Amino acid sequence: MSAARDFASRPESVSEVRAFTQDALAGLDLAVDDIVLCVSELVTNAVRHSTAHDGTFHLDIRVDRDKLRVECHDCGSKKPTLLTPSDADEGGRGLLLVQALTSRWGVGSRPAGKCVWFEIDGDPSVLQGCRRAGRVGS
Ligand SMILES: Nc1ncnc2c1ncn2[C@@H]1O[C@H](COP(=O)(O)OP(=O)(O)OP(=O)(O)O)[C@@H](O)[C@H]1O
Ligand SMILES: [Mg+2]
Repeated sequence: MSAARDFASRPESVSEVRAFTQDALAGLDLAVDDIVLCVSELVTNAVRHSTAHDGTFHLDIRVDRDKLRVECHDCGSKKPTLLTPSDADEGGRGLLLVQALTSRWGVGSRPAGKCVWFEIDGDPSVLQGCRRAGRVGS
């Protein structure tokens, strides 16, 4: 399965992306809520950082037999970095959440801007079941 689309870099697009992701994964036995949450974090960041550049970002979702991969391309030149927020900080947790819920994540350079991506190995519905049982992550 693969699904890809350009979205306008505006806050309203985040809910469109959630619906797009849910539609794309419908019928597949995946941990859709976790995936939608992680996609939302990437996209919220893309909206925040690409608005001033070309007004769009691109989302790509691929599922094969043993891996889900999501890429979010935006035209901003600044690269994301994991933060270490204190209890008093309101933000700085989006990518920490992505790190906790996925197998890996990263950033790739693109001719215009960059691609922030994550992957979930294996059957994500199995991972979700393990996490609920306290066997993966915390
Ligand atoms: N697509 C991006 N382009 C440029 N900088 C990014 C991008 N995504 C994240 N960042 C930066 O990386 C850092 C970590 O992002 P993260 O999503 O974890 O936190 P946040 O966006 O600051 O807060 P929160 O997601 O909790 O609202 C932040 O400084 C953020 O601005
Ligand atoms: Mg964020």
